[in-house]
Amino acid sequence: MYLNNCHLIGALSGGVDCQSGYVEIRDGRISSVGEQLPEGAAEVYDCGGGTLLPGLIDLHTHITLLSNVGISCSGDPMQVLVDASAQAKRYLRHGFTTIRDCGSIGRAANYVKKLIAGGVFDGPDLITCGSTLMPSVQNSLSGLAAMNHFCDGVEEFRKGTREEIANGAEFIKIYASGSALLPTGVPLHPIMTFEEIKNLDEQYVMHSYSRFPVALDRGKGATLWDAEGREYIDFTSGIGVCSLGYANEAWANAIYQQAMKVGHISNLFYTEPYARLASRLVPAAGMAAAFFGNSGAEANEGIIKVARKYSYEKYGEGRATIITLKNSFHGRTITTLKATGQDHFHEYFFPFTEGFRYAPANDLEALRAQDRGDVCAVMVELVQGEGGVLPLDKGYVKAVEALCAEKDWLLLVDEVQTGVGRTGTLFAFQQYDVLPDVVSFAKGIAGGLPMSGIMANEKCKDVLGPGMHATTFGANPVCAAAGLVVQEILSDGFLKEVQEKGEYLRKGIEALNLPCFGKTRGLGLMIGVEVREGWANKDIAGKLIENGLLILTAGPGMRLLPPLVITKDEMDKGLDIMKKILG
Ligand SMILES: Cc1ncc(COP(=O)(O)O)c(C=O)c1O
Repeated sequence: MYLNNCHLIGALSGGVDCQSGYVEIRDGRISSVGEQLPEGAAEVYDCGGGTLLPGLIDLHTHITLLSNVGISCSGDPMQVLVDASAQAKRYLRHGFTTIRDCGSIGRAANYVKKLIAGGVFDGPDLITCGSTLMPSVQNSLSGLAAMNHFCDGVEEFRKGTREEIANGAEFIKIYASGSALLPTGVPLHPIMTFEEIKNLDEQYVMHSYSRFPVALDRGKGATLWDAEGREYIDFTSGIGVCSLGYANEAWANAIYQQAMKVGHISNLFYTEPYARLASRLVPAAGMAAAFFGNSGAEANEGIIKVARKYSYEKYGEGRATIITLKNSFHGRTITTLKATGQDHFHEYFFPFTEGFRYAPANDLEALRAQDRGDVCAVMVELVQGEGGVLPLDKGYVKAVEALCAEKDWLLLVDEVQTGVGRTGTLFAFQQYDVLPDVVSFAKGIAGGLPMSGIMANEKCKDVLGPGMHATTFGANPVCAAAGLVVQEILSDGFLKEVQEKGEYLRKGIEALNLPCFGKTRGLGLMIGVEVREGWANKDIAGKLIENGLLILTAGPGMRLLPPLVITKDEMDKGLDIMKKILG
Protein backbone atom coordinates (compact mmCIF):
# COMPACT_ATOMS: atom_id res chain seq x y z
CA MET A 1 0.00 0.00 0.00
CA TYR A 2 1.43 3.40 -0.96
CA LEU A 3 0.34 6.80 0.10
CA ASN A 4 0.15 8.91 -3.00
CA ASN A 5 0.48 12.12 -1.17
CA CYS A 6 1.27 12.95 2.36
CA HIS A 7 0.74 16.61 3.06
CA LEU A 8 2.44 18.08 6.00
CA ILE A 9 1.50 21.10 7.95
CA GLY A 10 3.00 22.21 11.17
CA ALA A 11 5.81 23.53 13.18
CA LEU A 12 9.07 21.73 13.14
CA SER A 13 11.59 21.76 15.89
CA GLY A 14 13.80 24.62 16.96
CA GLY A 15 17.37 25.03 15.83
CA VAL A 16 18.79 25.97 12.51
CA ASP A 17 18.59 22.78 10.58
CA CYS A 18 15.21 22.76 8.93
CA GLN A 19 14.70 21.46 5.47
CA SER A 20 13.08 22.69 2.35
CA GLY A 21 12.23 21.03 -0.89
CA TYR A 22 10.50 17.73 -1.25
CA VAL A 23 11.43 14.16 -0.92
CA GLU A 24 9.92 11.06 -2.41
CA ILE A 25 10.01 7.91 -0.40
CA ARG A 26 9.39 4.59 -2.08
CA ASP A 27 9.84 1.13 -0.66
CA GLY A 28 11.02 2.63 2.58
CA ARG A 29 13.85 4.58 0.96
CA ILE A 30 14.30 8.14 -0.12
CA SER A 31 14.21 7.83 -3.88
CA SER A 32 14.76 11.45 -4.72
CA VAL A 33 15.22 14.80 -3.11
CA GLY A 34 14.32 17.83 -5.13
CA GLU A 35 13.94 21.51 -4.83
CA GLN A 36 10.93 22.16 -7.02
CA LEU A 37 7.50 22.15 -5.51
CA PRO A 38 5.71 19.17 -7.01
CA GLU A 39 2.15 19.44 -8.24
CA GLY A 40 -0.34 19.39 -5.42
CA ALA A 41 2.09 19.64 -2.55
CA ALA A 42 0.82 21.22 0.61
CA GLU A 43 2.72 23.69 2.71
CA VAL A 44 4.58 23.19 5.90
CA TYR A 45 4.39 26.02 8.36
CA ASP A 46 7.65 25.76 10.16
CA CYS A 47 8.23 27.88 13.21
CA GLY A 48 11.60 26.43 14.06
CA GLY A 49 14.44 24.55 12.48
CA GLY A 50 13.40 21.01 12.17
CA THR A 51 14.24 17.55 11.24
CA LEU A 52 11.53 15.56 9.80
CA LEU A 53 11.93 13.29 6.88
CA PRO A 54 14.19 10.50 8.06
CA GLY A 55 11.54 9.81 10.69
CA LEU A 56 9.32 8.71 7.85
CA ILE A 57 11.83 6.57 6.06
CA ASP A 58 10.53 3.25 7.25
CA LEU A 59 7.06 3.98 5.93
CA HIS A 60 6.09 2.90 2.46
CA THR A 61 5.15 6.40 1.58
CA HIS A 62 5.41 8.85 -1.21
CA ILE A 63 5.69 12.21 0.41
CA THR A 64 5.61 15.66 -1.02
CA LEU A 65 6.70 18.38 1.26
CA LEU A 66 7.33 22.05 1.07
CA SER A 67 8.77 23.90 3.97
CA ASN A 68 7.75 27.50 3.99
CA VAL A 69 9.00 29.18 7.10
CA GLY A 70 12.03 28.62 9.20
CA ILE A 71 13.22 30.78 12.01
CA SER A 72 15.60 29.67 14.69
CA CYS A 73 14.48 29.29 18.28
CA SER A 74 18.02 29.81 19.55
CA GLY A 75 18.23 31.52 22.96
CA ASP A 76 20.74 34.16 21.88
CA PRO A 77 18.84 37.03 20.23
CA MET A 78 21.74 37.87 17.91
CA GLN A 79 22.09 34.25 16.92
CA VAL A 80 18.35 34.12 16.24
CA LEU A 81 18.78 36.90 13.71
CA VAL A 82 21.82 35.26 12.14
CA ASP A 83 20.11 31.88 11.94
CA ALA A 84 16.88 33.38 10.71
CA SER A 85 18.51 35.30 7.93
CA ALA A 86 20.64 32.30 6.94
CA GLN A 87 17.54 30.14 6.76
CA ALA A 88 15.55 32.74 4.93
CA LYS A 89 18.37 33.03 2.38
CA ARG A 90 18.46 29.30 2.00
CA TYR A 91 14.74 29.09 1.33
CA LEU A 92 14.94 31.90 -1.16
CA ARG A 93 17.82 30.15 -2.89
CA HIS A 94 15.64 27.12 -3.30
CA GLY A 95 13.00 29.11 -5.06
CA PHE A 96 10.57 29.97 -2.29
CA THR A 97 9.16 33.43 -2.42
CA THR A 98 7.11 33.64 0.78
CA ILE A 99 8.56 33.39 4.21
CA ARG A 100 6.06 33.43 7.03
CA ASP A 101 7.53 33.50 10.46
CA CYS A 102 5.11 31.95 12.90
CA GLY A 103 7.61 32.56 15.67
CA SER A 104 6.61 29.71 17.91
CA ILE A 105 4.98 26.33 17.79
CA GLY A 106 1.93 27.65 19.61
CA ARG A 107 1.47 30.44 17.07
CA ALA A 108 1.92 27.98 14.25
CA ALA A 109 -0.85 25.89 15.76
CA ASN A 110 -3.08 28.93 15.90
CA TYR A 111 -2.25 29.72 12.31
CA VAL A 112 -3.28 26.21 11.31
CA LYS A 113 -6.54 26.68 13.18
CA LYS A 114 -7.15 29.87 11.21
CA LEU A 115 -6.51 28.01 7.97
CA ILE A 116 -9.02 25.40 9.01
CA ALA A 117 -11.55 28.05 10.00
CA GLY A 118 -11.03 29.78 6.65
CA GLY A 119 -11.61 26.54 4.79
CA VAL A 120 -8.07 26.52 3.40
CA PHE A 121 -7.14 23.33 5.21
CA ASP A 122 -9.56 20.80 6.58
CA GLY A 123 -7.47 19.74 9.54
CA PRO A 124 -4.74 17.20 9.98
CA ASP A 125 -5.35 13.48 10.31
CA LEU A 126 -2.34 13.01 12.49
CA ILE A 127 -0.73 15.35 14.94
CA THR A 128 2.74 14.55 16.09
CA CYS A 129 4.63 16.29 18.83
CA GLY A 130 8.15 16.10 20.08
CA SER A 131 9.65 16.28 23.49
CA THR A 132 10.23 20.01 23.26
CA LEU A 133 6.56 20.87 23.60
CA MET A 134 5.65 23.02 26.57
CA PRO A 135 2.31 22.53 28.34
CA SER A 136 1.19 25.93 27.04
CA VAL A 137 1.90 24.82 23.50
CA GLN A 138 0.05 21.59 24.09
CA ASN A 139 -2.93 23.72 25.12
CA SER A 140 -2.86 25.53 21.83
CA LEU A 141 -2.79 22.19 20.04
CA SER A 142 -5.68 20.77 22.00
CA GLY A 143 -8.33 21.95 19.55
CA LEU A 144 -6.52 20.17 16.79
CA ALA A 145 -5.73 17.12 18.82
CA ALA A 146 -9.38 16.54 19.58
CA MET A 147 -10.03 15.89 15.90
CA ASN A 148 -7.20 13.53 15.26
CA HIS A 149 -4.68 10.98 16.35
CA PHE A 150 -2.28 12.70 18.67
CA CYS A 151 1.14 11.03 18.55
CA ASP A 152 3.71 11.90 21.15
CA GLY A 153 7.05 11.17 19.56
CA VAL A 154 8.32 9.32 16.56
CA GLU A 155 7.36 5.77 17.45
CA GLU A 156 3.75 6.67 18.09
CA PHE A 157 3.73 8.71 14.92
CA ARG A 158 4.92 5.76 12.89
CA LYS A 159 2.33 3.52 14.51
CA GLY A 160 -0.42 6.05 13.86
CA THR A 161 0.62 6.43 10.25
CA ARG A 162 0.70 2.69 9.72
CA GLU A 163 -2.80 2.47 11.18
CA GLU A 164 -3.98 5.12 8.75
CA ILE A 165 -2.44 3.19 5.89
CA ALA A 166 -4.00 -0.04 7.11
CA ASN A 167 -7.35 1.75 7.21
CA GLY A 168 -6.96 2.51 3.52
CA ALA A 169 -5.78 6.11 3.71
CA GLU A 170 -4.06 7.36 0.61
CA PHE A 171 -3.62 10.89 1.74
CA ILE A 172 -2.60 11.86 5.26
CA LYS A 173 -2.34 15.37 6.56
CA ILE A 174 0.08 15.75 9.40
CA TYR A 175 0.66 18.48 11.90
CA ALA A 176 4.22 18.13 13.11
CA SER A 177 5.75 20.02 15.94
CA GLY A 178 8.79 19.85 18.11
CA SER A 179 11.47 17.27 17.38
CA ALA A 180 8.60 14.93 16.85
CA LEU A 181 9.48 12.79 13.95
CA LEU A 182 13.14 12.15 14.24
CA PRO A 183 15.29 11.40 17.21
CA THR A 184 18.59 12.24 15.58
CA GLY A 185 17.90 15.12 13.25
CA VAL A 186 19.09 15.11 9.66
CA PRO A 187 18.71 18.37 7.79
CA LEU A 188 17.96 18.17 4.09
CA HIS A 189 19.89 21.27 3.18
CA PRO A 190 22.73 23.08 4.90
CA ILE A 191 22.09 26.61 6.02
CA MET A 192 25.37 27.94 4.65
CA THR A 193 26.31 28.49 1.03
CA PHE A 194 29.48 26.95 -0.39
CA GLU A 195 31.25 30.32 -0.22
CA GLU A 196 30.31 30.75 3.43
CA ILE A 197 31.54 27.25 4.29
CA LYS A 198 34.76 27.77 2.33
CA ASN A 199 35.46 31.11 3.98
CA LEU A 200 35.08 29.64 7.47
CA ASP A 201 37.27 26.70 6.54
CA GLU A 202 39.94 28.95 5.01
CA GLN A 203 40.03 31.04 8.15
CA TYR A 204 39.98 28.36 10.84
CA VAL A 205 41.28 25.06 9.42
CA MET A 206 44.94 24.01 9.07
CA HIS A 207 45.53 23.42 5.42
CA SER A 208 47.77 20.40 5.48
CA TYR A 209 45.90 19.20 2.35
CA SER A 210 44.27 20.94 -0.57
CA ARG A 211 40.56 20.61 -1.19
CA PHE A 212 38.42 20.51 -4.32
CA PRO A 213 35.95 23.41 -4.44
CA VAL A 214 32.91 21.39 -3.34
CA ALA A 215 31.19 21.22 0.07
CA LEU A 216 29.45 17.88 0.28
CA ASP A 217 26.33 17.84 2.32
CA ARG A 218 24.35 14.63 2.06
CA GLY A 219 24.19 11.36 0.22
CA LYS A 220 22.26 8.19 -0.49
CA GLY A 221 23.85 5.02 -1.82
CA ALA A 222 26.72 6.10 -4.06
CA THR A 223 25.21 9.49 -4.87
CA LEU A 224 26.08 12.69 -3.03
CA TRP A 225 24.73 16.23 -3.08
CA ASP A 226 26.69 19.38 -2.36
CA ALA A 227 25.70 22.43 -0.35
CA GLU A 228 24.03 23.94 -3.42
CA GLY A 229 22.04 20.77 -4.17
CA ARG A 230 24.21 19.58 -7.10
CA GLU A 231 24.42 15.81 -7.59
CA TYR A 232 27.64 13.77 -7.72
CA ILE A 233 28.27 10.11 -8.45
CA ASP A 234 30.81 8.90 -5.95
CA PHE A 235 33.75 6.77 -7.08
CA THR A 236 35.68 7.53 -3.87
CA SER A 237 33.75 6.38 -0.73
CA GLY A 238 35.62 8.95 1.33
CA ILE A 239 38.87 7.22 0.22
CA GLY A 240 37.65 3.66 0.53
CA VAL A 241 35.74 4.12 3.77
CA CYS A 242 31.98 4.34 3.10
CA SER A 243 31.58 0.82 1.79
CA LEU A 244 27.82 0.87 2.44
CA GLY A 245 27.50 4.21 0.69
CA TYR A 246 25.72 7.08 2.39
CA ALA A 247 22.74 7.15 4.76
CA ASN A 248 22.51 3.37 4.98
CA GLU A 249 19.56 2.95 7.31
CA ALA A 250 20.68 -0.23 9.09
CA TRP A 251 24.08 1.35 9.73
CA ALA A 252 22.64 4.67 10.93
CA ASN A 253 20.15 2.88 13.16
CA ALA A 254 22.82 0.68 14.72
CA ILE A 255 24.90 3.76 15.51
CA TYR A 256 21.91 5.55 16.99
CA GLN A 257 20.81 2.55 19.05
CA GLN A 258 24.29 1.96 20.45
CA ALA A 259 24.87 5.66 21.15
CA MET A 260 21.64 5.71 23.13
CA LYS A 261 22.90 2.76 25.23
CA VAL A 262 26.57 3.57 25.78
CA GLY A 263 28.71 5.63 23.43
CA HIS A 264 32.13 4.90 24.85
CA ILE A 265 33.55 2.96 27.76
CA SER A 266 37.33 2.31 27.23
CA ASN A 267 39.44 -0.81 26.92
CA LEU A 268 39.13 -1.43 30.65
CA PHE A 269 35.72 -3.08 30.38
CA TYR A 270 34.04 -5.61 28.13
CA THR A 271 31.34 -4.52 25.69
CA GLU A 272 29.14 -6.72 23.57
CA PRO A 273 29.66 -5.01 20.17
CA TYR A 274 33.47 -5.20 20.50
CA ALA A 275 33.44 -8.88 21.42
CA ARG A 276 30.88 -9.70 18.74
CA LEU A 277 32.77 -7.86 16.00
CA ALA A 278 35.99 -9.71 16.89
CA SER A 279 34.11 -13.00 16.92
CA ARG A 280 32.77 -12.31 13.39
CA LEU A 281 36.05 -11.16 11.85
CA VAL A 282 38.61 -13.50 13.35
CA PRO A 283 37.18 -16.84 12.11
CA ALA A 284 36.14 -15.32 8.77
CA ALA A 285 39.77 -14.27 8.21
CA GLY A 286 41.25 -17.51 9.55
CA MET A 287 43.15 -15.57 12.22
CA ALA A 288 43.33 -16.09 16.00
CA ALA A 289 42.67 -12.75 17.74
CA ALA A 290 41.87 -9.10 17.00
CA PHE A 291 42.59 -5.69 18.52
CA PHE A 292 40.66 -2.57 17.46
CA GLY A 293 42.07 0.92 17.09
CA ASN A 294 41.23 4.14 15.30
CA SER A 295 43.22 4.69 12.12
CA GLY A 296 45.20 2.81 9.53
CA ALA A 297 48.52 4.31 10.60
CA GLU A 298 47.83 3.33 14.19
CA ALA A 299 46.99 -0.22 13.13
CA ASN A 300 50.28 -0.40 11.25
CA GLU A 301 52.13 0.83 14.32
CA GLY A 302 50.47 -2.10 16.09
CA ILE A 303 51.64 -4.74 13.62
CA ILE A 304 55.17 -3.29 13.68
CA LYS A 305 55.13 -3.56 17.48
CA VAL A 306 54.04 -7.21 17.26
CA ALA A 307 56.90 -8.00 14.85
CA ARG A 308 59.58 -6.32 16.95
CA LYS A 309 58.38 -7.78 20.23
CA TYR A 310 58.08 -11.27 18.74
CA SER A 311 61.63 -11.10 17.47
CA TYR A 312 63.07 -9.51 20.62
CA GLU A 313 61.55 -12.19 22.86
CA LYS A 314 62.84 -15.01 20.70
CA TYR A 315 66.15 -13.68 19.40
CA GLY A 316 67.06 -10.68 21.58
CA GLU A 317 68.25 -7.27 20.38
CA GLY A 318 69.58 -6.43 16.92
CA ARG A 319 66.83 -8.09 14.89
CA ALA A 320 64.25 -5.32 14.52
CA THR A 321 64.43 -4.32 10.85
CA ILE A 322 61.31 -4.50 8.73
CA ILE A 323 61.56 -4.71 4.96
CA THR A 324 58.80 -2.86 3.15
CA LEU A 325 58.26 -2.43 -0.57
CA LYS A 326 59.17 0.50 -2.76
CA ASN A 327 56.14 2.56 -3.77
CA SER A 328 54.21 1.41 -0.70
CA PHE A 329 52.17 3.60 1.63
CA HIS A 330 51.67 2.75 5.30
CA GLY A 331 50.54 5.98 7.01
CA ARG A 332 51.55 9.38 8.30
CA THR A 333 52.86 8.86 11.80
CA ILE A 334 56.61 9.24 12.27
CA THR A 335 57.07 5.47 12.13
CA THR A 336 54.67 4.65 9.32
CA LEU A 337 56.04 7.47 7.17
CA LYS A 338 59.41 5.77 7.45
CA ALA A 339 57.81 2.38 6.73
CA THR A 340 56.40 3.90 3.53
CA GLY A 341 58.69 3.03 0.61
CA GLN A 342 58.61 6.44 -1.13
CA ASP A 343 61.47 8.87 -0.55
CA HIS A 344 59.39 12.03 -0.59
CA PHE A 345 57.60 10.88 2.57
CA HIS A 346 60.95 10.85 4.39
CA GLU A 347 61.40 14.61 4.45
CA TYR A 348 60.99 17.37 7.08
CA PHE A 349 60.04 15.37 10.17
CA PHE A 350 63.43 14.05 11.32
CA PRO A 351 64.40 12.05 13.18
CA PHE A 352 62.25 9.20 11.86
CA THR A 353 61.95 5.79 13.50
CA GLU A 354 64.88 3.60 12.52
CA GLY A 355 64.76 0.04 11.27
CA PHE A 356 63.20 0.04 7.79
CA ARG A 357 64.73 -1.03 4.48
CA TYR A 358 63.01 -1.14 1.11
CA ALA A 359 62.90 -3.67 -1.71
CA PRO A 360 61.27 -3.31 -5.13
CA ALA A 361 57.93 -5.11 -5.47
CA ASN A 362 57.70 -8.46 -7.26
CA ASP A 363 61.46 -9.15 -7.01
CA LEU A 364 62.23 -11.94 -4.56
CA GLU A 365 65.99 -11.79 -5.03
CA ALA A 366 66.02 -8.10 -4.19
CA LEU A 367 64.11 -8.93 -1.03
CA ARG A 368 66.60 -11.63 -0.10
CA ALA A 369 69.40 -9.17 -0.70
CA GLN A 370 68.07 -7.03 2.14
CA ASP A 371 68.76 -9.85 4.62
CA ARG A 372 71.64 -8.69 6.82
CA GLY A 373 70.77 -10.87 9.78
CA ASP A 374 68.79 -8.06 11.40
CA VAL A 375 65.37 -8.58 9.83
CA CYS A 376 62.25 -9.43 11.84
CA ALA A 377 59.48 -8.96 9.28
CA VAL A 378 58.36 -8.13 5.76
CA MET A 379 55.46 -5.74 5.41
CA VAL A 380 53.39 -5.49 2.21
CA GLU A 381 50.22 -4.03 0.73
CA LEU A 382 48.87 -6.70 -1.63
CA VAL A 383 47.52 -4.00 -3.91
CA GLN A 384 49.58 -0.85 -3.48
CA GLY A 385 46.86 1.75 -3.18
CA GLU A 386 48.29 5.24 -2.82
CA GLY A 387 51.21 4.15 -5.00
CA GLY A 388 48.92 3.71 -8.01
CA VAL A 389 46.67 0.64 -7.50
CA LEU A 390 49.37 -1.90 -8.27
CA PRO A 391 48.48 -5.50 -7.39
CA LEU A 392 51.46 -7.64 -6.38
CA ASP A 393 52.08 -10.82 -8.40
CA LYS A 394 50.52 -13.87 -6.79
CA GLY A 395 53.62 -16.02 -7.24
CA TYR A 396 55.77 -13.36 -5.62
CA VAL A 397 53.50 -13.10 -2.57
CA LYS A 398 53.49 -16.90 -2.13
CA ALA A 399 57.29 -16.87 -2.34
CA VAL A 400 57.52 -14.06 0.23
CA GLU A 401 55.34 -16.11 2.57
CA ALA A 402 57.67 -19.09 2.14
CA LEU A 403 60.77 -16.92 2.68
CA CYS A 404 59.28 -15.49 5.87
CA ALA A 405 58.53 -18.99 7.16
CA GLU A 406 62.10 -20.09 6.32
CA LYS A 407 63.71 -17.14 8.15
CA ASP A 408 61.11 -16.82 10.93
CA TRP A 409 60.36 -13.30 9.72
CA LEU A 410 56.78 -12.24 10.31
CA LEU A 411 54.64 -11.62 7.25
CA LEU A 412 52.83 -8.34 7.95
CA VAL A 413 50.04 -7.49 5.52
CA ASP A 414 48.68 -3.95 5.42
CA GLU A 415 45.04 -4.30 4.38
CA VAL A 416 44.07 -0.81 5.50
CA GLN A 417 42.79 -0.08 1.99
CA THR A 418 42.30 -3.55 0.51
CA GLY A 419 40.49 -5.06 3.50
CA VAL A 420 36.85 -5.54 4.46
CA GLY A 421 35.39 -6.43 1.08
CA ARG A 422 37.05 -3.78 -1.07
CA THR A 423 38.72 -6.29 -3.38
CA GLY A 424 35.78 -8.71 -3.55
CA THR A 425 36.86 -10.99 -0.70
CA LEU A 426 36.75 -10.10 2.98
CA PHE A 427 40.54 -9.63 2.87
CA ALA A 428 42.75 -9.51 -0.22
CA PHE A 429 45.13 -12.14 1.27
CA GLN A 430 42.33 -14.66 0.77
CA GLN A 431 42.71 -14.17 -3.00
CA TYR A 432 46.49 -14.50 -2.72
CA ASP A 433 46.13 -17.78 -0.85
CA VAL A 434 48.48 -16.71 1.96
CA LEU A 435 47.92 -16.30 5.69
CA PRO A 436 49.67 -13.29 7.25
CA ASP A 437 51.16 -13.52 10.73
CA VAL A 438 49.58 -10.15 11.46
CA VAL A 439 47.23 -8.09 9.31
CA SER A 440 46.12 -4.47 9.71
CA PHE A 441 42.82 -3.08 8.43
CA ALA A 442 40.89 0.19 8.76
CA LYS A 443 39.00 2.29 6.19
CA GLY A 444 35.86 0.22 5.44
CA ILE A 445 35.68 -1.66 8.74
CA ALA A 446 32.96 0.51 10.30
CA GLY A 447 31.42 1.84 7.06
CA GLY A 448 32.32 5.47 7.78
CA LEU A 449 33.17 5.74 11.47
CA PRO A 450 36.84 5.95 12.48
CA MET A 451 37.97 2.46 13.33
CA SER A 452 40.88 0.19 12.54
CA GLY A 453 42.27 -3.06 13.83
CA ILE A 454 44.87 -5.74 13.68
CA MET A 455 44.49 -9.50 13.67
CA ALA A 456 47.21 -11.98 14.55
CA ASN A 457 47.54 -15.68 13.86
CA GLU A 458 47.95 -18.33 16.56
CA LYS A 459 51.75 -17.78 16.68
CA CYS A 460 51.43 -14.04 17.33
CA LYS A 461 48.15 -13.57 19.14
CA ASP A 462 49.70 -13.31 22.63
CA VAL A 463 52.79 -11.29 21.72
CA LEU A 464 51.29 -8.05 23.07
CA GLY A 465 50.47 -8.69 26.72
CA PRO A 466 48.42 -6.52 29.10
CA GLY A 467 49.63 -2.90 29.20
CA MET A 468 51.70 -3.19 26.03
CA HIS A 469 49.23 -1.88 23.50
CA ALA A 470 46.08 0.13 24.02
CA THR A 471 44.24 3.19 22.83
CA THR A 472 41.56 5.25 24.55
CA PHE A 473 39.02 5.24 21.74
CA GLY A 474 39.90 1.85 20.34
CA ALA A 475 37.21 -0.16 22.03
CA ASN A 476 34.44 2.18 20.97
CA PRO A 477 31.16 0.26 20.97
CA VAL A 478 29.42 2.64 18.54
CA CYS A 479 32.12 1.99 15.91
CA ALA A 480 31.93 -1.73 16.66
CA ALA A 481 28.13 -1.69 16.28
CA ALA A 482 28.56 0.00 12.90
CA GLY A 483 31.21 -2.61 12.03
CA LEU A 484 28.76 -5.40 12.81
CA VAL A 485 26.30 -3.99 10.26
CA VAL A 486 29.09 -3.93 7.66
CA GLN A 487 29.89 -7.59 8.44
CA GLU A 488 26.21 -8.50 8.21
CA ILE A 489 26.04 -7.04 4.70
CA LEU A 490 29.31 -8.52 3.38
CA SER A 491 27.88 -11.97 2.60
CA ASP A 492 29.57 -14.23 0.03
CA GLY A 493 26.92 -13.24 -2.52
CA PHE A 494 27.54 -9.55 -1.87
CA LEU A 495 31.31 -9.99 -2.26
CA LYS A 496 30.82 -11.82 -5.55
CA GLU A 497 28.80 -8.84 -6.73
CA VAL A 498 31.69 -6.55 -5.73
CA GLN A 499 33.93 -8.54 -8.08
CA GLU A 500 31.34 -8.37 -10.86
CA LYS A 501 30.84 -4.63 -10.39
CA GLY A 502 34.62 -4.13 -10.51
CA GLU A 503 34.74 -6.00 -13.83
CA TYR A 504 31.81 -4.01 -15.16
CA LEU A 505 33.39 -0.69 -14.29
CA ARG A 506 36.80 -1.60 -15.67
CA LYS A 507 35.33 -2.88 -18.94
CA GLY A 508 33.10 0.20 -19.10
CA ILE A 509 36.08 2.55 -18.76
CA GLU A 510 38.15 0.65 -21.32
CA ALA A 511 35.22 0.61 -23.75
CA LEU A 512 35.06 4.43 -23.62
CA ASN A 513 38.46 4.56 -25.35
CA LEU A 514 39.21 7.95 -23.86
CA PRO A 515 42.30 9.72 -25.21
CA CYS A 516 43.64 10.42 -21.71
CA PHE A 517 43.26 6.88 -20.28
CA GLY A 518 45.33 3.76 -20.83
CA LYS A 519 44.79 0.35 -19.26
CA THR A 520 42.86 -0.37 -16.08
CA ARG A 521 43.98 -2.68 -13.27
CA GLY A 522 42.96 -3.65 -9.76
CA LEU A 523 40.94 -6.10 -7.71
CA GLY A 524 37.21 -5.87 -7.06
CA LEU A 525 36.15 -2.26 -6.54
CA MET A 526 39.72 -1.04 -6.09
CA ILE A 527 40.50 0.15 -9.59
CA GLY A 528 43.45 2.00 -11.09
CA VAL A 529 43.41 3.68 -14.49
CA GLU A 530 46.60 4.62 -16.32
CA VAL A 531 46.80 8.23 -17.41
CA ARG A 532 48.58 8.69 -20.75
CA GLU A 533 51.52 11.01 -21.21
CA GLY A 534 50.60 14.60 -21.74
CA TRP A 535 47.68 14.42 -19.33
CA ALA A 536 47.78 15.27 -15.61
CA ASN A 537 45.70 13.08 -13.31
CA LYS A 538 44.90 15.99 -10.96
CA ASP A 539 43.49 18.06 -13.83
CA ILE A 540 41.35 15.12 -14.93
CA ALA A 541 40.07 14.64 -11.38
CA GLY A 542 39.28 18.38 -11.12
CA LYS A 543 37.29 18.35 -14.37
CA LEU A 544 35.32 15.24 -13.46
CA ILE A 545 34.52 16.52 -9.99
CA GLU A 546 33.40 19.85 -11.43
CA ASN A 547 31.01 17.91 -13.62
CA GLY A 548 29.50 15.61 -11.05
CA LEU A 549 31.83 12.61 -10.71
CA LEU A 550 34.00 12.25 -7.61
CA ILE A 551 37.21 10.38 -8.34
CA LEU A 552 40.67 9.92 -6.77
CA THR A 553 44.21 9.98 -8.03
CA ALA A 554 46.97 7.56 -7.00
CA GLY A 555 50.58 7.72 -8.16
CA PRO A 556 50.44 9.14 -11.71
CA GLY A 557 47.04 7.55 -12.46
CA MET A 558 43.40 7.63 -11.43
CA ARG A 559 41.97 5.59 -8.58
CA LEU A 560 38.37 4.46 -8.16
CA LEU A 561 37.08 3.23 -4.81
CA PRO A 562 33.29 3.44 -5.15
CA PRO A 563 30.98 2.42 -2.31
CA LEU A 564 30.59 -1.36 -2.49
CA VAL A 565 26.83 -0.89 -2.76
CA ILE A 566 27.08 1.19 -5.94
CA THR A 567 24.35 0.27 -8.44
CA LYS A 568 24.69 -0.37 -12.17
CA ASP A 569 22.70 2.78 -12.77
CA GLU A 570 25.14 4.85 -10.70
CA MET A 571 28.16 3.27 -12.43
CA ASP A 572 26.58 4.06 -15.83
CA LYS A 573 25.96 7.65 -14.79
CA GLY A 574 29.64 7.94 -13.77
CA LEU A 575 30.78 6.44 -17.09
CA ASP A 576 28.53 8.86 -18.99
CA ILE A 577 30.15 11.80 -17.21
CA MET A 578 33.63 10.47 -18.11
CA LYS A 579 32.58 10.13 -21.74
CA LYS A 580 31.02 13.58 -21.91
CA ILE A 581 33.89 15.40 -20.20
CA LEU A 582 36.93 13.45 -21.36
CA GLY A 583 35.74 12.02 -24.70
C1 LIG B 1 47.63 0.83 2.70
C2 LIG B 1 47.44 1.95 3.69
N1 LIG B 1 48.02 1.87 4.89
C3 LIG B 1 47.86 2.84 5.80
C4 LIG B 1 47.11 3.95 5.54
C5 LIG B 1 46.95 5.03 6.59
O1 LIG B 1 45.64 4.98 7.09
P1 LIG B 1 45.07 6.20 7.94
O2 LIG B 1 44.97 7.36 7.02
O3 LIG B 1 43.71 5.72 8.40
O4 LIG B 1 46.00 6.42 9.08
C6 LIG B 1 46.50 4.08 4.29
C7 LIG B 1 45.69 5.27 3.98
O5 LIG B 1 45.38 5.59 2.87
C8 LIG B 1 46.65 3.05 3.34
O6 LIG B 1 46.09 3.12 2.15
